[in-house]
Amino acid sequence: MEVKTSLLDNMIGVGDMVLLEPLSEDSFLENLKNRFDHNEIYTYIGSVVISMNPYRSLPIFTPDKVEEYRNRNFYELSPHIYALADEAYRSLRDQDKDQCILITGESGAGKTEASKLVMSYVAAVCGKGQEVNKVKEQLLQSNPVLEAFGNAKTVRNDNSSRFGKYMDIEFDFKGDPLGGVISNYLLEKSRVVKQPRGERNFHIFYQLLSGASDDSLKKLKLHRDFSKYNYLSLDSAAVNGLDDSANFRTVRNAMQIVGFMEDEVQSVLELVAAVLKLGNIEFKPESRCNGTDESRIKDKNDLKEMCELLGIEQSVLERAFSYRTVEAKMEKVSTTLNVAQAYYARDALAKNLYSRLFSWLVTRINESIKAQAKTRHKVMGVLDIYGFEIFEDNSFEQFIINYCNEKLQQIFIELTLREEQEEYIREDIEWTNIEYFNNAIICDLIENNKNGILAMLDEECLRPGTVTDETFLDKLNTICAEHQHFESRLSKNSMFLSDHSLPHSCFRIQHYAGKVLYRVEGFVDKNNDLLYRDLSQAMYKANHSLIKQLFPEGNPAKVNLKRPPTAGFQFKASVGTLMRNLQTKNPNYIRCIKPNDKKASHIFTDSLVRHQLRYLGLMENVRVRRAGYAFRQPYEPCLERYKMLCKRTWPHWRGPAREGVEVLMSELPVPAEEFSYGRSKIFIRNPRTLFFLEERRRQCLQDLATLIQKIYRGWKCRSHFLLLKKSQIVVAAWYRRYAQQKKYQRIKSATTVVQSYTRGWQARKLLRELKYQKRCEEAVTTISAYWHGTQIRREYRKFFRANAGKKIYDFTIQRIMQKYFLGLKSNLPSMSPIDKKWPARPYLFLDGVHTELRRIFHLWRCKKYRSQFTEEKKAVYEEKLEASEIFKDKKALYPSSVSQPFKGDYLEISKNPKYQKLSSAMEEKVLLADVVNKINRANGKGTARIFLLTKNSVVLADQKTGQVKASVPLPDLTSVSVSTQSDGFFALKLKEGSASAVKGDFLLSSEHLIEIITKMHRMGTTAADREQLDIDISDEFLVQFKHDKVCVKFIQGVPKNGNSVSCKRKNNRLLEVSVPTTA
Ligand SMILES: Nc1ncnc2c1ncn2[C@@H]1O[C@H](COP(=O)(O)OP(=O)(O)O)[C@@H](O)[C@H]1O
Ligand SMILES: [Mg+2]
Repeated sequence: MEVKTSLLDNMIGVGDMVLLEPLSEDSFLENLKNRFDHNEIYTYIGSVVISMNPYRSLPIFTPDKVEEYRNRNFYELSPHIYALADEAYRSLRDQDKDQCILITGESGAGKTEASKLVMSYVAAVCGKGQEVNKVKEQLLQSNPVLEAFGNAKTVRNDNSSRFGKYMDIEFDFKGDPLGGVISNYLLEKSRVVKQPRGERNFHIFYQLLSGASDDSLKKLKLHRDFSKYNYLSLDSAAVNGLDDSANFRTVRNAMQIVGFMEDEVQSVLELVAAVLKLGNIEFKPESRCNGTDESRIKDKNDLKEMCELLGIEQSVLERAFSYRTVEAKMEKVSTTLNVAQAYYARDALAKNLYSRLFSWLVTRINESIKAQAKTRHKVMGVLDIYGFEIFEDNSFEQFIINYCNEKLQQIFIELTLREEQEEYIREDIEWTNIEYFNNAIICDLIENNKNGILAMLDEECLRPGTVTDETFLDKLNTICAEHQHFESRLSKNSMFLSDHSLPHSCFRIQHYAGKVLYRVEGFVDKNNDLLYRDLSQAMYKANHSLIKQLFPEGNPAKVNLKRPPTAGFQFKASVGTLMRNLQTKNPNYIRCIKPNDKKASHIFTDSLVRHQLRYLGLMENVRVRRAGYAFRQPYEPCLERYKMLCKRTWPHWRGPAREGVEVLMSELPVPAEEFSYGRSKIFIRNPRTLFFLEERRRQCLQDLATLIQKIYRGWKCRSHFLLLKKSQIVVAAWYRRYAQQKKYQRIKSATTVVQSYTRGWQARKLLRELKYQKRCEEAVTTISAYWHGTQIRREYRKFFRANAGKKIYDFTIQRIMQKYFLGLKSNLPSMSPIDKKWPARPYLFLDGVHTELRRIFHLWRCKKYRSQFTEEKKAVYEEKLEASEIFKDKKALYPSSVSQPFKGDYLEISKNPKYQKLSSAMEEKVLLADVVNKINRANGKGTARIFLLTKNSVVLADQKTGQVKASVPLPDLTSVSVSTQSDGFFALKLKEGSASAVKGDFLLSSEHLIEIITKMHRMGTTAADREQLDIDISDEFLVQFKHDKVCVKFIQGVPKNGNSVSCKRKNNRLLEVSVPTTA
């Protein structure tokens, strides 16, 4: 948490003299000394700041300090010049009151420094920004420029302001600086030509000579050596702690920031150089024949260089130094100047040149820093005027300076002491009057229009006849002799006749700050401030723009015979303006006190300080403050300012302001003796109370700010919300519109589709109807055409051939048939009877014909085939055909015989000699000869026999011998039995009772069974007289063996001993033949 130091806490001595106890001059002094020893250079008397010059830099002017004092209550922190500056600035910014800061004190007491501190503080705390910063910078940088030209080292102060300066800083409503106006008061120009011992000329001369580059010095025709210039006093050319060459750079830089053009700077420096040159011009007397003394310029080199610098014709200036032209009543009279007059003219020119240059600088700076905006602005004036001065030798300048200080004291008294007391009376506040010294009487002595010193000086200056300083003093002695504060040796008042401290050529004034002895010498001249017209005209002729500007009265076209206003008159007028100006503003006082005469730190000279606090009237100041009230304010602004501290007065008080304030104060925990109600103001006794009020107000303001912020934020949020809502509605409306548009378009296109379908459907329906109608119409047309045709045909039939259609049909059929037959002819299959191919049928209606033709063709093909056979081959095929008729599909052996040709004579009986006997025994031709197996009836075993078939019989013969064993006539054979299987067994059954049947039937087996049986069957067929031979095909048949009938049974079985067929006698009645299974 921030630790607050208060004016009333942790103090060294007492921070506010109002709180000093007991109050006496000694305790006052003691308190100041105590604080000074502890580096506390500032002390308050109420709102007046007493500032002691520390003569060394203290660490209390840092940016941190600025921040510390910024926006803090006056009484909150320990006394500081920043507190006063802050108070002034805030009341300017917040209460719209123009302010002035009046800084008073002796020369060297720290006024100029104080004014700079105030300005730098205000610059630090006021607004920022590019434009504002530029203005600030220019305002601050005007100081070094003016100090270089207007300050000089005096015995009292190394940097003493030799002019008075009042600067108005202008602010806008926010408290940002806009610009400023500087007023300057009476530059001590005598210093240009002569300086008292131990003092210097204005800084700029030394700065230029030590700081400028060799090059620019050469251009200005100057030498670096100070001793070469008469106007520069040598004894204190170098000052401790002053770096002239560094300062020169600072000045050049400052001029640039303030806005001086390069050529302007050069012109200024040329003028400075010209003044130095001017000082070096010396004159020598030359007696003329008429006995008068004339002056001549000793060495014209300096004159020449000066004329070159300023662009003046040398002869013109030379003449101006030798002659003086007086114009009176249209007459021009030229008189020569003696050496003294020539020196006077030279010095007058130098002083005028310099002082006019200084005034021009101020005007030029004002041009740069003047506020641009034409709006109404608030003003803070800072007055830093030369302090009260008492030298050994005091002249016109000191008189003027001290007069000015009198006026300032007057305004201080006006505003603090008298005003305050008068106010208590006016306001009907209980009050015991405090005595104080009012210096109005001294001001009157000096400035009274009728018999004031200044008025009399002017009178003397304007008076025709010989006017000298002595005549002026005489006048004073007569007129002011009675005045309490005027002292003169020769005045009628014999009081000072024997006062040897008062020389005859002097007069003494008892100023508020002490008695000052003025030497009257030079008063008239200085007041006249005369520059011979010849010189000003010579200057005007210069080919140098700045010089021309500075001497407008030299323009021969504007010859003005009227005397220019005197210096005293001008000064009085400007001081009068200044005072009126200050009275319109809220004053803030800084009263500077010099602790010692040695410009030394840590030395506190009691007597010196005591003297100052006396003449500054600080004791009275404290007394008035203590007796009265620290703070007062009219009821309206007071109520306005503090009304938020009480519920009843916030936010509005409807009744009279005074009542409002009374209500307000009664509600606050402030003791009743702490305040009084005046007629129009409330008076608050103690700063603590004010501080308390301010603190409460600050808290309340914070709360109010929060409230305002709250309401503002609420409003902002609400309006933002409403804006959003509005926007949302707009967006929603647009979106809905868009959505509806889309929906509408969808519906529309859907409708179009539905519509188009419906229309299509309707159209198609219509089309269908129309088509139907059209078909109906066509049908009707056709029917009617047919009908008409029929009718017509019926009518015309007799004229047509009745069977034309049939003929055409027949013809067509014929043609088709023809084409078919011709096609068939070229497409016939091969002549092979077994070829199964036949072309495809082209027409369905030819189906029967096609099949029939195929059959016929086949038959024909077969016939053709047959017709190429020989008789033998035919017989063979007949036999084969018969075999087929007998065995096909009845005996398994048959298929294998189909491909074997029926050879008949396998043994080639007739040719083979072996069978010669047998062949010859045969009466008939042998149709078949083969070897067969004769099955033994008893055991079933086979015996090979030659089997012969002739036309009438069957013969069995022995295979080896050829001896006939049996011969059976064919008619004795009744039937032949064979099995259904693939064996070669066959049984020849004989007719019962025949001769051959004695031994029983024969059971034989042959490889050519099919041929044998077929041939035997043929015999029966071919012989007409014979019975047909039966052929019995079965797997079980009976065979007659002698007396027994034996059953021969064929079974399928496994072949034994490699034999394909085995035969076995099973018993008397059964002979079993097992035949291998045909695969
Ligand atoms: N606040 C201060 N801190 C340090 N030195 C100061 C202060 N005030 C004045 N001085 C010293 O005193 C000298 C004279 O002060 P200045 O302001 O020029 O006096 P004045 O303008 O009253 O004649 C300055 O040059 C400076 O050295
Ligand atoms: Mg000063």
